Amino acid sequence: MCGIVGGVAERCVTEILIEGLKRLEYRGYDSAGLALLNKEQILRERRVGKVANLAEAVSEQHLTGNIGIAHTRWATHGKPTENNAHPHVSGNVAVVHNGIIENYQELKDELQALGYIFTSQTDTEVVAHLVNDALKQTDSLLEAVQKVTPRLKGAYALGIIHTEHADELITVREGSPLVIGVGIGENFISSDQLALLPVTNRFVYLEEGDIARLTRTSIEVFVNGERVDRPVKELDATVSNASKGEYKHFMLKEIYEQPEAIQQTISQALNGNNLREDFLQHANADFNKIQQVQIIACGTSYHAGMIAKYWFEQLIGVPCQVEIASEFRYRTPVIVENTLYICISQSGETADTLAALRETQKRAKANNINISTMTICNVATSSMVRETDHHLLTLAGPEIGVASTKAFTTQLAALMLLIIKIGQVKQRLAAAQLTEITEALWHCPKVILDTLQHNTAILRLSALFVEKNHCLFLGRGTHFPIALEGALKLKEISYIHAEGYAAGELKHGPLALVDNEMPVVILAPNDEMLDKLKSNMEEVQARGGELFVFADENSGIQEKDRQHVVHIPAVNEWLAPIVYSVPVQLLSYHVAVLRGTDVDQPRNLAKSVTVE
Ligand code: AGP
Repeated sequence: MCGIVGGVAERCVTEILIEGLKRLEYRGYDSAGLALLNKEQILRERRVGKVANLAEAVSEQHLTGNIGIAHTRWATHGKPTENNAHPHVSGNVAVVHNGIIENYQELKDELQALGYIFTSQTDTEVVAHLVNDALKQTDSLLEAVQKVTPRLKGAYALGIIHTEHADELITVREGSPLVIGVGIGENFISSDQLALLPVTNRFVYLEEGDIARLTRTSIEVFVNGERVDRPVKELDATVSNASKGEYKHFMLKEIYEQPEAIQQTISQALNGNNLREDFLQHANADFNKIQQVQIIACGTSYHAGMIAKYWFEQLIGVPCQVEIASEFRYRTPVIVENTLYICISQSGETADTLAALRETQKRAKANNINISTMTICNVATSSMVRETDHHLLTLAGPEIGVASTKAFTTQLAALMLLIIKIGQVKQRLAAAQLTEITEALWHCPKVILDTLQHNTAILRLSALFVEKNHCLFLGRGTHFPIALEGALKLKEISYIHAEGYAAGELKHGPLALVDNEMPVVILAPNDEMLDKLKSNMEEVQARGGELFVFADENSGIQEKDRQHVVHIPAVNEWLAPIVYSVPVQLLSYHVAVLRGTDVDQPRNLAKSVTVE
C-alpha cells in the first residue's frame, strides 16, 4: 500500500525522506516521489519503479530542503506513471495522500468548472486543488485544510506543504494510519513508524479525524477546530529489527525468527505450566459471560482463525465462527449477545477487518446488544488494538516480508493462550490438558528449530516445482487451514497457481486436476486422521500425481517412486499446525527464489492493505 514520509527540520530532510521511503518499500508500491520546499519553491521529483530510481534522480539534481513530503504509491486510480505519482501540486501546494477519496469525480468536475487543470488520473489531485482554492479565503494553511477535509469522503492520510508556509507541515488522519515522529528541534510524519526509526523512537499516534500542524519545534493537534492533547509515546523497537542481517531476504530471516518469536509470545502469558495471574486479567468478567466466538480476519490471519475454530470447539467447547472480513462487513450479520468478536491482524490496520469491527460495534451499540471485542495483533499501537476492549499481542517483532510467516505462527500461539485463558475462566479445561498444552507450547520453539534443519532437503524439493504451473496442497483437520496457507504462500511469492483443499474433498472435484504434471503437497502429522490421509495419497498416486509429503517421523510414510518425504519431528497434536507451517513457508520461499521473483515485495501485493 502507499506510504507517506514527511519532515520539518533545521537540517536538510532529503536523505531522511529517502531512507524513510526505503523502509516503506516492504509495503508494496509501484512509483515514488518527493517534494521539498527550498527558497519558496517546490522542488518535486517522481519516478516509476523503485525508490532507488528516485534516490538517484534526487541526488543527481542535488535537491535539498528543510521541509518536505515523500510518498510511495500503490496504484488505485490511474496507472503507475510519473504523472500519477505523488506529491501532487496545485499552485504553491504539494500533497501526498494514502487511501481513497471516494467522491473525487464529483469534486474533480467542480474544480474543472472553476478552471483547475488536472495533470493526473488520481483521486489525490483534487485535494491539492481544493486546498489551493481554499487558500483564496484564508492565509492559514491549517484553516484551508480544515475547510477542505469535511468535503472529502473516504479514507485518507495526508501530508501537505505550501511555499508561503515554509516552516510548517500539515497532516491529516481520517481512516488511514498516520503517526508523528517527535524529534529534538525537528518533527516528522509517516504512515508507518518503522520509516522514522532512524530519526526518533518517540511518537504521537493520531486518531481518526485529527489534523495536526507541525513546525520544527511544535506539534499542535486539532479535532473539529479545537486543540486536543495527544500523548507522546516511546517505542522500544530498535532500528536493527528492520534490517535483513545475514539473510538474503526478510522472509527467510522472519522464518528463522519463529522459535524466538513464539518463545516471546508465550512468555508474556505463562509462568511454568500455569497462566500468569495478570494475563488478560481485566477480561475475566467478559470471558466468563461469552457464549460464543466470532473471528474476523483476512488472508493469512484468517487461516489462523480457521485453526482456532477447531481448538475453541474441541478443547473448551466454545462455539466459534470464522469469517473473511471483506464478506462479514457487508452481509449484515446478526450480532449475537454475549459473543466475543476477535479481530486477528498482523498490522492491526487492515481496512476490511477494521471496518468489520467498527460496523459490529456500531450495530451492537445501536441495538443495545452486549458483546466484547478483542484484537490479536503484532502492532501495539495499531487502530485495532486501540479500538477493541481487549488485546493480546503477538511479540513477533516487525514483519517486513509481504508474505506473513512469524506473524502467523505467533498468532497461533497467542490464540492457544487465549483459549487456555477462556477455558480456565469458564472452568472448561482439565488440569491435565492445561499441563499437556503448556508443556507443548514451551517445547514448540525447539521443534521448530529442529524442523528448520530440513531446510536443505526442502530446497532440493523446491527445484522440482520451478517449471510447474499448478500445485495442490492437502491436509485434514487443523492442517486443512495449513494447506490453504501453504497454497497462499506459494502463489503470492512464486506466482505458481496453487490451491489448498481439505483432503477429504479431493474426490469431490480437484482429483480431476491430478495428472503427472501436478505436484501435490501433503501435510501428514501423526493424528487420528492419518490413515484417511494415506488413502487420499493413494488416490493421487493412482492418477499419476507426484507427492511431496511433510510427514511426522513416526507416521510410517516413506520415500518411494514419485513420493518425496521430509520427516518432521514428533510434535504434540494440538500444536502441530504451528510446526507444519514452517516447511510450507520454506518450500514457497525456495521456489520463489529459484524462479527469480521479488520475494519480499511480490508484484501487485502490499504488506498492509489499508484501502478496500
Ligand atoms: C499473507 O502472506 C498476506 N500478507 C496477507 O494475506 C495478510 O495476511 C492479510 O492481508 C491480512 O493482513 P493483516 O494480518 O495485517 O490484517
